[in-house]
Amino acid sequence: MTDLAHIRADFPILRQEMNGYPLVYLDSAATSQKPTAVLDAITDFYETANANVHRGAYALSEIATDRYEEARTRVAGFINADRREVAFNRGTTSAINQVAYGWGLYNLKPGDRVLLTLMEHHANIVPWQLVSRHTGAELVYVPHTESYELDLEAYHSLLDERVKVVGITAMSNVLGTINPVRQLADAAHAAGALVVVDAAQAVPHMAVDVKQMDADFLAFSGHKMLGPTGIGVLYGKRELLEAMEPAEGGGEMISDVQLDSSTWAEVPHKFEAGTPPIAEAVGLGAAISYLEKIGMDAVRSHEVDITSYALERLGEIENLTIYGPADMTNRGGAVSFTLADIHPHDLSTILDQRGIAIRAGHHCARPLARSLNVPATARASFYIYNVRADVDALIDGLHEAREIFGVA
Ligand SMILES: Cc1ncc(COP(=O)(O)O)c(C=O)c1O
Repeated sequence: MTDLAHIRADFPILRQEMNGYPLVYLDSAATSQKPTAVLDAITDFYETANANVHRGAYALSEIATDRYEEARTRVAGFINADRREVAFNRGTTSAINQVAYGWGLYNLKPGDRVLLTLMEHHANIVPWQLVSRHTGAELVYVPHTESYELDLEAYHSLLDERVKVVGITAMSNVLGTINPVRQLADAAHAAGALVVVDAAQAVPHMAVDVKQMDADFLAFSGHKMLGPTGIGVLYGKRELLEAMEPAEGGGEMISDVQLDSSTWAEVPHKFEAGTPPIAEAVGLGAAISYLEKIGMDAVRSHEVDITSYALERLGEIENLTIYGPADMTNRGGAVSFTLADIHPHDLSTILDQRGIAIRAGHHCARPLARSLNVPATARASFYIYNVRADVDALIDGLHEAREIFGVA
């Protein structure tokens, strides 16, 4: 176990009270809180280095460009990629849209299949649906097992020559399930398909190595890993990025513009149309430095500790159903549950009155909710700043909800 209790002091928001109680923040799967180091890096950028990047032939613009490009180098190091394989964008959603519209639109055709899992977030479903309208490709889904793992048998049987791209979440934002991406990627590659990994939940919570995963494309968001909103990353293997079309056009992404056609800038710049999120990239760089100082193994081991404690304590509550693997070897810190027939929104409201922030709803994964046969679940999700006392507060709040609703 790694005790990270001392780092709470780095997160100013956690000193706040909410509804008269100390804030207990259990919604990090939606977005994480930000340490002072990140907030300071963003302020410092605006106070000392703010200018547009890659444009001005003056010192301040060069300083801004250097800071932006340093952030790219830091991101690349964090996931073991080459810096030219890292394109900045708005987040996981825009990264996957880039692949769907830049690769899918040009390479899929009627008869082809996009193989997704039923655990996908809408961000790894809807872009493929939109592109399928143009290409005629069909979407096919791999179900999960009763123990909330990916049904590997179904995966292998669905993986035939029609499948041109496989979209997998590395860690489910609802079930917490960690999927065996390398194993899935090996099979996909053997079948001739590309692999797009939604790593929105994985990169913040565990060491991710794109080479070890053998991901063709991988997407994640800065705001879920202590960074600011508005910045995300698309990793792609260099040769694939070079062959892929940009999904957005405009300034900065071109090599030349003629009246009726253009040529593109070198990768990754051809995927960064317009003024990029510069201060946000700098903030993400600072978030990565902060995580690296702690060490991703320590981040994971803290998550294992706090989540096992939460699973154990939730297990003490009668009529509480957890949707996700019981074993920490293949799950992360998102814990979805229902309590008797209390609506998750009511649970969330009762907990909120005690300063406890959890999520209630379908968590942007409606196909999964349908497959679980629940319209909504409550979800508590943990990160490095959570302590066992946060779990205890959650449990007390759930007991209160039982009393209020007269659950036996
Ligand atoms: C697994 C997963 N994929 C994609 C996303 C979308 O991320 P963003 O809204 O930052 O684009 C999320 C966010 O909740 C997520 O949890």
